Parts: sequence; C-alpha cells; structure tokens
Amino acid sequence: MVESNEVLKQLNNHASIRAFQDKPVSDETMNAIFEAAFAGPNMQNYQPVTFIEITDQDLKQKITDTVHMGYIASAPRFYVACVDWNRDLIGQDDEAKAVIEDRIQHYQFLEGGIVSASITLGRAQVAAESLGLGTVTMAGVMGAFELYEKELDLPKYVKPIMGFSVGYPDQEPGVKPKLPLSGSVMEGRYDEKKVEAAVNEYDKTMADYYGARDMDTNWTKHNAKLFKMIPADPRLSKYPMDKGLNLK
Ligand SMILES: Cc1cc2nc3c(=O)[nH]c(=O)nc-3n(C[C@H](O)[C@H](O)[C@H](O)COP(=O)(O)O)c2cc1C
Repeated sequence: MVESNEVLKQLNNHASIRAFQDKPVSDETMNAIFEAAFAGPNMQNYQPVTFIEITDQDLKQKITDTVHMGYIASAPRFYVACVDWNRDLIGQDDEAKAVIEDRIQHYQFLEGGIVSASITLGRAQVAAESLGLGTVTMAGVMGAFELYEKELDLPKYVKPIMGFSVGYPDQEPGVKPKLPLSGSVMEGRYDEKKVEAAVNEYDKTMADYYGARDMDTNWTKHNAKLFKMIPADPRLSKYPMDKGLNLK
C-alpha cells in the first residue's frame, strides 16, 4: 500500500472548473503557475510551446460567442496554448534553417509539439489547483481559430491547440470518476476483454454519477450522444498545413 501524500491527494481531487468568481488572479500567481508548468519535459528540449493570454474582453466575448463557452469571457485569465516551432528558427543560419524547416513539416514534429504543449497544460492545471484556483482546458476553442489568426499575429509554424481558463472556482462540480485502471493500464499486450470489463463496470459507476445529477444516462450512452452532437470540423484538418506544419 502506497502512502498518500499532498501531491497524490491533489491529483485525485481534480475537477475541471467552468464557473469563476469575479476575483482577479495576480500576475505573480500566474507566473508561479507557468514557471512550474514550463519546468516539465518537452520534445528534445526544443520547447515548442507558447501560451498567449487574451486580455481584450471584446475578443474573449467573440470567442465565447463563436464556440458557445461562457467560461472564456467570464474567466479572469484566458490563454490560447500553441504548438510553437517558430522559436526554433530564431538565431539559425540559412543552412540550419533549411534543415529545421524540412524537419518541422513532418507529422512527428506536430505530434511532438502537441504532446509537449499538452504536458505543459497538464502541469499548469495541477500548479493552479495547488494554489486554490480552478481551470479548464478546451479543445473546443479551436472553433474560433480564424479569430486567433486575425488577432494574435501568429507566425508560420505557430498553431493554437487548446484554450485554458483560470480563476477562483465558483462551483464545486465534484470529482468525475474515471475508468477502472484495469481498462487503461495493461501488461504485455492490449487486452480487449479487460477494456470491455472496465467499460461495463464504469457504465454502472457513471449511471450513479449522472443519476445524482438528475441525468438518466451512463458513459457509453453519454459518449454516443456527444459524438453525434458535436460535429467534426474539416477546416481544422487543413489548419496545420496552412501553418506549415504539414503531414509530410
Ligand atoms: C483534449 C481535451 C479537450 C477538452 N475540450 C473541452 C472543451 O472544449 N470544453 C470543455 O468545457 N471542456 C473540455 N475539456 C475538459 C474535459 O471535458 C474534462 O477534462 C473531462 O470531462 C473530465 O472531467 P474532469 O476534468 O472534471 O475530470 C477538454 C479536455 C481535454 C483533455
């Protein structure tokens, strides 16, 4: 039995927050969060990650109106997290630039950038929660990518991937149970039977979770509804290519 500790307790208490108090979050607090977030692992230490805070309330409102997420406009702090391969070109001579520009057009660099940005986001979320803040990470903000292109001076090779709202929580949504580990952590090979058993068990857990929130559903039913309700956006399949991040 592993003894619990503050870090484990905090990680197990995670819940995305989508309602914020009307209370500012100081620059010092945000700096502490980002220092801890950016201290993490990233692809080859290329550090291909940039967060851009959107401070213009009109723009935050426009993004909210476009993607229908009120917790962008109402968040004291809202950031767009980007994969950033532009910075790796700075200070390079023409020969090195040609090599780098060839490399970053390959899918593996897009993937490495997305994973690096995701790890940074996860760490920022944990750091923020450790300071009593609430956050939510949002892929849905990509529906407003044309606004980022118009307003944020994004160079080639810099592609937004997620939104990140931060503020003092004004709700207690409760911890959302996750799949039993037996369905998510495997040994030796992928075991379809274990996943099926885990999903069946989890459906019961989530039926209770939703039931307590007056919703008659479970995980598989809820997923089917979400997949159907949220359309895929083919513009977003083309967007990486438009930024020079090709699937070469
Ligand atoms: C890749 C990714 C995309 C997400 N996109 C959205 C989003 O567009 N809008 C939103 O409200 N939450 C979004 N979330 C938050 C998830 O809905 C949330 O993490 C999940 O339901 C589990 O709930 P929990 O974070 O409270 O444990 C996203 C999270 C991830 C990791």
